[in-house]
Amino acid sequence: MTGAMSENPYQSLDALAVMPLWRHHGDLFTPEPQASAVPYLWRYAALRPYMLHFTNRLSLEEAARRVLMLVNPGLSDPPATVNSLFAGIQVIMPGEAARAHRHAANAFRFIIEGESAYTTVNGERIHMRPGDLLLTPGWHWHDHFHEGNGPVMWLDGLDYPLTNALEAGFFELFGDRVQKPYVADDLSSRKFIHGRLNPAWENADSRFSPVGNYPWRETERAFVAMGDDVEGSDSEGIVLEYTNPWNGGPVLPTTDCKITRLRPGFRGRLRRTTASTIMHVVRGEGHVEFDDRRLEFGPHDVIAVPGWRAHRLANTSTDSDAILFSYSNAPALRALGLLRVDHPESANDPPG
Ligand SMILES: [Fe+2]
Repeated sequence: MTGAMSENPYQSLDALAVMPLWRHHGDLFTPEPQASAVPYLWRYAALRPYMLHFTNRLSLEEAARRVLMLVNPGLSDPPATVNSLFAGIQVIMPGEAARAHRHAANAFRFIIEGESAYTTVNGERIHMRPGDLLLTPGWHWHDHFHEGNGPVMWLDGLDYPLTNALEAGFFELFGDRVQKPYVADDLSSRKFIHGRLNPAWENADSRFSPVGNYPWRETERAFVAMGDDVEGSDSEGIVLEYTNPWNGGPVLPTTDCKITRLRPGFRGRLRRTTASTIMHVVRGEGHVEFDDRRLEFGPHDVIAVPGWRAHRLANTSTDSDAILFSYSNAPALRALGLLRVDHPESANDPPG
């Protein structure tokens, strides 16, 4: 026999960079997913004063992006909101420019408050209004500018935790502080907004949606047009997905974006999915119920719903809708054959 085996063979294995599988089997193949993230709610009313405080103390030259990261208590290193997705609240003040850069991570913003700011994405100025969804797919140049009055705040969504976990992150600063527009303002939204009429002279690239902005007025029009003639989902309410007009799929390769209307008094059926989700309350009040906690939400709050945590949505108002914007990593899981959804039985559900 060659090689010296110490008195403790496990120690010698360590030096050989191997591990006995029989000591790890349990944690590597869990019966069910074990989320490190916890269900959590960030209250917008609590964050907003801090956002405004830093507008006076911190310039965009210093900060690059003035963002409060919403860090899940279970995911501080590296910081993330749920396992593969990030949420942050960003503020920009009149006359400020957030410097142009690009990154491999996909990003989007959902506008919370304020008018007259725009983002320039690959040379196209895209104007933002509350409720608009603006996309910045991976490796697209983007900078932000505010030419109006008062603060403009939005929810930033990114998939950098996934990009970094896959060790595929790139980042680059643009040569100038901001891009010079070379495409007509808001052109991508004007070309594609009808959804069922696409520009036939362009080559379909289905990796991500070519639409720069899904404006709130179109989203609201969809809910109004459907009215109460649609049934909706018994667990998710009247949920609509923002789609890539080239293929009807998710707007970003790793991330889907949805908007949900919960009718007054809606109380959903218990649901769980391997996808991790972040919700943002556009308006209304209600709660998300888990087995060990109930997160009561109000306007503009942000909620982390980790994967495989059974939860129930409810609108607690009897006369107003609750509208929720949400995004999840379902497209990444679907591409890998890992997406599962089910509806656990609950004693509180009506029979059926
Ligand atoms: Fe960025």
